[in-house]
Amino acid sequence: MSAWSRRRFLGVGAAGVVGAGAVAVGLPALGALIPSGQPGLLLASQVPLPKRYATQLPIPSVLQPVRTDGTTDYYEITARPGMARLVAGHDTEVWGYQGMFPGPTIESRSGRRTVVTHKNELPHPTVVHLHGGHTPHDSDGYPMDLIAPLGGGTGGPGAGGMAGMAGMGPATAKPERVYDYPMNQRAATLWYHDHTMGFTGPHVYRGLAGFHLVRDDEEAALGLPHGPRELPLMIADRAFAADGSFAYPALDPSEVKPGVQSAYMNGVLGDVILVNGAPWPVAPVDRARYRLRILNASNARRYRLELDPQPPGGGGLLQIGSDGGLLERPIAHDAIELASAERFDVVVDFSRYPAGSSVRLVNRLGSGSTAEVMRFDIGSAQVSDDSRVPGGTLAKVEKLDASKAVATRTFTFIKSQNNWTINGQGYQPGQSLASPKLGQVEIWRFVSDVHHPVHLHLDPFQVVRRNGDAPGEFDAGWKDTVDVLPAEGVEVAVRFTDYAGRFLVHCHNLEHEDMASMGEFTTQ
Ligand code: C2O
Ligand code: CU
Repeated sequence: MSAWSRRRFLGVGAAGVVGAGAVAVGLPALGALIPSGQPGLLLASQVPLPKRYATQLPIPSVLQPVRTDGTTDYYEITARPGMARLVAGHDTEVWGYQGMFPGPTIESRSGRRTVVTHKNELPHPTVVHLHGGHTPHDSDGYPMDLIAPLGGGTGGPGAGGMAGMAGMGPATAKPERVYDYPMNQRAATLWYHDHTMGFTGPHVYRGLAGFHLVRDDEEAALGLPHGPRELPLMIADRAFAADGSFAYPALDPSEVKPGVQSAYMNGVLGDVILVNGAPWPVAPVDRARYRLRILNASNARRYRLELDPQPPGGGGLLQIGSDGGLLERPIAHDAIELASAERFDVVVDFSRYPAGSSVRLVNRLGSGSTAEVMRFDIGSAQVSDDSRVPGGTLAKVEKLDASKAVATRTFTFIKSQNNWTINGQGYQPGQSLASPKLGQVEIWRFVSDVHHPVHLHLDPFQVVRRNGDAPGEFDAGWKDTVDVLPAEGVEVAVRFTDYAGRFLVHCHNLEHEDMASMGEFTTQ
């Protein structure tokens, strides 16, 4: 058993971390830091919770380009406040793309350039990141590349921000920014969301998130379920204040100082589960195969999703894709685990259930209200279903050769006194933690104290080892976010390509991220 095994790692504590090649930052009170369940603290709603299974699942509309030409589709999106009816007797203000939560879905064709002009009519600066996008630095949503609020507005990184950011204010920011996405990448479920320095957590919590689907010919040729039988599912937990607004324990709601009240530093957990912005919705489905593009857009909450009841014979969640698109071949799961920002593309065959029956999507990591997610009500009509899921090969997936790695780098994610650190350091804009060469395979190791969903910008990676052993059952395929469990060491193979510049490695628990669990690397 290697020194990377979880048991050994836990057994020898700090010495194990050093032995594993991590920076010797020490692990004070490691045992006390390891939570048993969720990475965070529950914030209870101050209103009666919405009734479960009383709303139909909304499907975000697909945004139409304002213009297209031979190579490019052009879009315009305005972030602005909107209203949603989520709890009885109150309207909830959301901050949404086009005023909606989730924002409209963008659909791109692989290889066809997509240009999105984002405007900001919110009271605070914003930044937009296309999560999973293979995007040059200038359009990647670097946290200091602010879109100023149209009407001026207060707060934001320029007014205070994270420690060590003096003078990096929004002085030059304009109320709109053009994001240019080459889209030279395979079909996958991407999402776009706020990435403002120090305030990503509260911004995404208020609703700044939407799907961006990339399609390609390889996938289209498979005959997977599509059209009304392809459902994007954005799962997010929220809590509500007494007036029906989203409750968020910000340290400073005026957005001068980032972060949350110290009790919530591990993460903010809500008691209401929203899917596509609706609490515990119901989706009417045919007795046929459906493709579910599941995204965990929660700030901190992890889910273990299962169908209840399971279909006869089990394996009800047939995984066909991960963060970075199709798997080589499908994997039948009884349950899938998702940390923040992870995507699972699954096919569910509702014809395995009796006509007229109902099946719930439940969360085995939740309790009470958070143990349930949504329900599918299966029709009784005879329907035709010409979709198929190839049992053999879905797609050609290149396997990165870890033995060819030119470098191994370790990133240790650990709590410090008042913030979160990588290799002992809170985020410092402009300071690079690594300078990988474009086109070369490297091994990046992520070491944790508590739960940290670790995300890389620019390119996806492949998990090669978990605690010295084989990858876990939810690690298959191209990933851009990996669920690092407490006191783990996860090694991934990554090869950055095409774009030289500054990019981010960070924890996607948004409370950790805002409280400095972020670093930069510079590709060259
Ligand atoms: Cu989904 Cu750097 O973020
Ligand atoms: Cu974290």
